[in-house]
Amino acid sequence: MTGPSLANLWGRKAGGLSSFERYSDALKSSGIIWDDRALDGWLTDPQRMVPDNDMPFEGIKDAGVRADLLAFLKEATKPGAPQQTTQQGGMKGMGGMMGGGGHDPNLKSLEPAKRVKAITYCHDTYRVTTADGKTRPFWERNLRFMTDSSQDGPEKGAPAIMPAGMMGDRAAVIFAAPEEITKMIEARC
Ligand code: HEM
Repeated sequence: MTGPSLANLWGRKAGGLSSFERYSDALKSSGIIWDDRALDGWLTDPQRMVPDNDMPFEGIKDAGVRADLLAFLKEATKPGAPQQTTQQGGMKGMGGMMGGGGHDPNLKSLEPAKRVKAITYCHDTYRVTTADGKTRPFWERNLRFMTDSSQDGPEKGAPAIMPAGMMGDRAAVIFAAPEEITKMIEARC
């Protein structure tokens, strides 16, 4: 979700998916149609091929590695290819090491330990109570508040808590909508 879907990539116009709302002007106006050659150039050095694009990726200099990746992508993105979910599954144990962008498909049917019931705020500490009855403290700068308004996001009024980082001291609370955030946080010691 940081970047656009790559489904049916070959033959697509660069920056052309209406489902992705964060394309750079640079990519949208590049005039590129994705094919073997264009993708090889993009993956060698995205900033050189499309200056000022928004993909934070330094590129792959090894031509053999690029060829392997493109062969894989061509197969995985062709029309009718099964949706890949291995990466999401594989990332679970890593607790959002990739920057908290990990996309859990099941925020509507979570175990009680991940369903947030209440949040209090006292001095520099949030205390998060989950549906299993446990309450955990977080230093205020270690708890992030996010929204997911998509069909994969949480039910309205039922935010989810997901671990972030590797030490277990950080987490993200994901709400269905921004107006739920301050409503849920009660200033109380
Ligand atoms: C080998 C790894 C990667 C491949 C094969 C890849 C492939 C692509 C392709 C083909 C596009 C253009 C899609 C289109 O025109 O609809 C694109 C755009 C984009 N990708 Fe990647 N990408 C990779 C890594 C990453 C990473 C690591 C990030 C972010 C952490 C990222 C974020 C984005 C973003 C934000 C865009 C839109 C760029 C813009 O509008 O200027 N990509 N990617």
